[in-house]
Amino acid sequence: MIIAPSILAADFGNLEKAIESVKTAEWLHIDVMDGHFVPNITIGPVVIKGIRKYSSQVLDTHLMISEPEKYVNDFIAAGSDRITFHLEAVKDVEALIKMIRLKGAKVGISVKPNTNIRDLEDYIPLIDQVLVMSVEPGFGGQEFIQESLFKIIKLKDLKNKFKEDLLIVVDGGINEKTAKLCFAAGADVLVAGSFIFNSEDPEAKMKLLK
Ligand code: DX5
Ligand code: ZN
Repeated sequence: MIIAPSILAADFGNLEKAIESVKTAEWLHIDVMDGHFVPNITIGPVVIKGIRKYSSQVLDTHLMISEPEKYVNDFIAAGSDRITFHLEAVKDVEALIKMIRLKGAKVGISVKPNTNIRDLEDYIPLIDQVLVMSVEPGFGGQEFIQESLFKIIKLKDLKNKFKEDLLIVVDGGINEKTAKLCFAAGADVLVAGSFIFNSEDPEAKMKLLK
C-alpha cells in the first residue's frame, strides 16, 4: 500500500518544511485546480518545478482542469512523474494518453463520484492508474463517499482481467477507518491530505494509514 500525502492540506507558506515532514512518503500528491473544472484554484507548473528542486519523491499530479491537453507538457517539463487527468474534462482520451506517454510520464485517469467506471473501461489496458474520487473534487477535508467502495471493487475486477499492474488510487476523505475499507476493497494507493497534514506528527499519521 502506497500512502500519498496530498499537499493541498499543507502549509503553502512553507512548503519545503511541509514536504520535509512527510519525507518517507514514496509519492507526493499534487492537486492542480483551475477555477473552471472545479470551483477552486490552486497551483501551476511553477510550483511543481520548485518542489522538484528539493524532492526526489514521485510527483503524482492530479489535474482538475479543463482542457488538460493544453498543459500536460508543461507539467511534465516541470517535473511531474505521473499525470492524472479527469475523464470528464477530455474529448479525445486516447490522444491525451499518447501525448503523456510520449513525454515519458505515467498516465492516470480520474473519475468524479457521479461518473460510472463503465465509461473508462476501454482505456484501462492503456493506462497506469485509475484515481477514484471519493469526494467531489475541489476541496480537502470532506467526508468519504461510501459508494466509492463499489467502484474500487469493480476496478479490482477489471484490473485482474485486463491490466494486472494497474494502480487503483483513492482520493478524498481518507482516515484510518476509510483506509481500511479501501484496502479491503482493493485499493493500491491512498491519497490523504487533512488526515496527514492537520497533525503535529504527519509521519505518525502516515504510519497509521499504512
Ligand atoms: C480534492 C483533492 C484531494 C484532497 C484530499 O479535490 O483531489 O487530493 O487533497 O483531501 P482530504 O484527504 O482532506 O480529503
Ligand atoms: Zn487529488
